[in-house]
Amino acid sequence: MEQINQLYLEMIRYEQGCPARIQHFTKVFAFAKLIGESERLDADTQFLLESAALVHDIGIRMAEEKYKTCTGTLQEQLGPAIAKEMLVRLNFKEAEIERICFLVGHHHTYNHVQGLDYQILLEADFLVNLYEGQQDQSAARRAYQQIFCTETGKKICEQMFL
Ligand SMILES: [Fe+2]
Repeated sequence: MEQINQLYLEMIRYEQGCPARIQHFTKVFAFAKLIGESERLDADTQFLLESAALVHDIGIRMAEEKYKTCTGTLQEQLGPAIAKEMLVRLNFKEAEIERICFLVGHHHTYNHVQGLDYQILLEADFLVNLYEGQQDQSAARRAYQQIFCTETGKKICEQMFL
């Protein structure tokens, strides 16, 4: 089986009993894949982006179990180690694991965004969160201006919310 689908099924298993989080990362993954392909990422960057999209919120479960809260900072702190364990088990390469875990640890950090995998992960997560969080149009407008950079991400944001 393709490594990305192994990771996908493993994430569903990790989040079993929580359809909301499974549906969330499924949507973030779909938007990330679409934006990445439309922006013509090279195959390696596309793979890192899709993998990161699947695992980006992996810290939430432990944050809620241990601390009864799931702030962005706590997720960023807890997520990378959990992701690393899973990625090692699924035989991801060391350099891939390092980058994916970095993205997990920074997906709520919006300044100093470096790399299209990072940028597109943020855009895909915003496309889903603006809807799931039932944010009003002004929040979408702010995100459109402050977060979105890629042509494809901007177009989707505009057509969906503005
Ligand atoms: Fe997310």
